[in-house]
Amino acid sequence: MTTPAEAFAPAKVNLTLHVTGRRDDGYHLLDSLVMFADIGDRVTVRPADEISLSVTGPFAEGVPNDARNLCWRAAQAFGAPVAITLDKQLPAAAGVGGGSSDAAAVLRAMEAAFGRPAPVDPLTLGADVPVCTVAHAAHMAGIGERVLPLTMAPIPAVLVNPGVSVATPEVFAALASPDNAPMTPWPEGGGTAATLRWLATQRNDLQAPAIACAPVIAEVLDALKGADLARMSGSGATCFGLFEDAAAAEACAAELSAAHPGWWVRATTLR
Ligand code: C5P
Repeated sequence: MTTPAEAFAPAKVNLTLHVTGRRDDGYHLLDSLVMFADIGDRVTVRPADEISLSVTGPFAEGVPNDARNLCWRAAQAFGAPVAITLDKQLPAAAGVGGGSSDAAAVLRAMEAAFGRPAPVDPLTLGADVPVCTVAHAAHMAGIGERVLPLTMAPIPAVLVNPGVSVATPEVFAALASPDNAPMTPWPEGGGTAATLRWLATQRNDLQAPAIACAPVIAEVLDALKGADLARMSGSGATCFGLFEDAAAAEACAAELSAAHPGWWVRATTLR
């Protein structure tokens, strides 16, 4: 490797998240439709004598720059020393897969740089990492290791994070029932309107327990009630509003940014 390699780490959005069971080891069985935004973090890897990590960007504060960071562990697992730069544009511990998407991006960048596939089972880095290696629409099942890429119509969206971080294990612990119905079959290959109609009949089973942990999430969902569909992503606290029309998503984002200057609000397209 002689030149730096860069990779984009898009925000992951769980359009649905059905918790269908709990394994003996405490991990939950999930059934989730996942799409990715056109906003995200950016990682760069450069040749070096040892692994290092420098974190920049608006959400750098509090992000570890050592082996606690999944980027670092991804490089370790790949088995080559690199200096990693992480431009943190996404809020951390926010339900949009920031750390997992960053780790998947490090693997992609290192694959490009070293010209060989990552000798790593992405699941060993975290349950959300396998879907983040795909980085476009997919059905995720098992505890996250079963990933089936899907063809879905792009969906205009607004992502909103109220600035509270929610710990995923706490949200799972607050889940009343770990044994809920799976998703019904989705309209793969249908248009955005058909997808929105189907999504309205599905759920995020972590939304109620996350609201119990962080009540401001209910305020965010209320602020998004003008969207065709509003729901929380992952274990929160980021919520999304979906729209048939990109101009409506832009208008909603402008309105919410003005009304809630402390919130992180972004219009995007999910793919
Ligand atoms: O795999 P990851 O480190 O991202 O998971 C963080 C935590 O989320 C786990 O320790 C577990 O408490 C919870 N989790 C779960 N079931 C999953 C994924 C995560 O219970 N499928």
